[in-house]
Amino acid sequence: MRIILIGYGVVGQSLTDIFLQRKIENLRNYGFNPKVVAITDRGGAAINIKGLDLKRIQSIKKREGTVAADSVFGHRQMSGQDIIQSIEAEIMIEATSTNITTGEPGISNIKTAFNTGKHVVTTNKGPLALSFPTLIELAEHNKVLLRFSGTVGGGTPILEFAKKCLEGDRIKEIHGILNGTTNYILTEMAEKKVTFEKALESAQKLGYAETNPAMDIDGLDSAAKVVIIGNWIMNKKFTLKDVDIIGIRDITLNALEIASKKGKRIKLIGSIDGKPTVAPKEIERNDPLCVNGVLNAVTFVSEYAGRETIIGRGAGGIETASAVLRDLLDIKHHLANKILS
Ligand code: HSE
Repeated sequence: MRIILIGYGVVGQSLTDIFLQRKIENLRNYGFNPKVVAITDRGGAAINIKGLDLKRIQSIKKREGTVAADSVFGHRQMSGQDIIQSIEAEIMIEATSTNITTGEPGISNIKTAFNTGKHVVTTNKGPLALSFPTLIELAEHNKVLLRFSGTVGGGTPILEFAKKCLEGDRIKEIHGILNGTTNYILTEMAEKKVTFEKALESAQKLGYAETNPAMDIDGLDSAAKVVIIGNWIMNKKFTLKDVDIIGIRDITLNALEIASKKGKRIKLIGSIDGKPTVAPKEIERNDPLCVNGVLNAVTFVSEYAGRETIIGRGAGGIETASAVLRDLLDIKHHLANKILS
């Protein structure tokens, strides 16, 4: 399976780690033999249509800061768009950073991949938050698949749980802690009484926060995930502008203390129960949804199965890369069974 990897940050590099570590198991267990034919980053691209040597690329990236520095396979002038248009591959992985205002370069990369007959796996939430219904239609029109497990819950299979395990049931409501950074900040503030600023600084150091942490703090990242869950799991047709959003900037140590005295915690909750919302809410400390640190948790309320909560690490490079691997295998299974949806 030939793969183009657009964006070689923490997630992209973790994915190449997984490919290297799991080469033999992937082949033996799934007959899956990924051949990465091109990788791009902000400095340009590295291309080898026979398959890049990922160890070599990783060490060049670490040493030089860009894969384009490869003296044999590097191309400083080539953009993601050039690569997607000119290089043949079955799959394009979109792992550039999220831009919640324009969705770019993600939206253009995904559209070009569809137009050139490539299936897409994205970890970039921007395109989905702004244009989910359009992108799904475009994928169907071009008879290609679009997968995005890593956009919600990091490595935790939140989307797959609802889509596959609750198949046939009707999910009526969803409530979730969908952002690791804000959950980490609120936990640090509640448990260690540290200031908002200190907790944010530490979340950034640990690599949980978005490039622009306002996306986390102001609730946009959670809202993007609400859009993805609503469209994919509940067949809603809404985008980011339809979500009512309040972030956590105004949460004080005092408010957390008052909640704590009532046996509650303040958490940033994304909900789809009528109108989609993101807002800080008080929840009971013994509610399964009330997880701490960087954990995410989502409660699904279904017509027959009732309330179920799935919990796991919601952010991190290797966790998100594991979701990409799941998506790649899912596409492989769909293609083997000739199912294009
Ligand atoms: N910044 C996000 C979070 C990363 O903290 O949850 C994963 O989407």
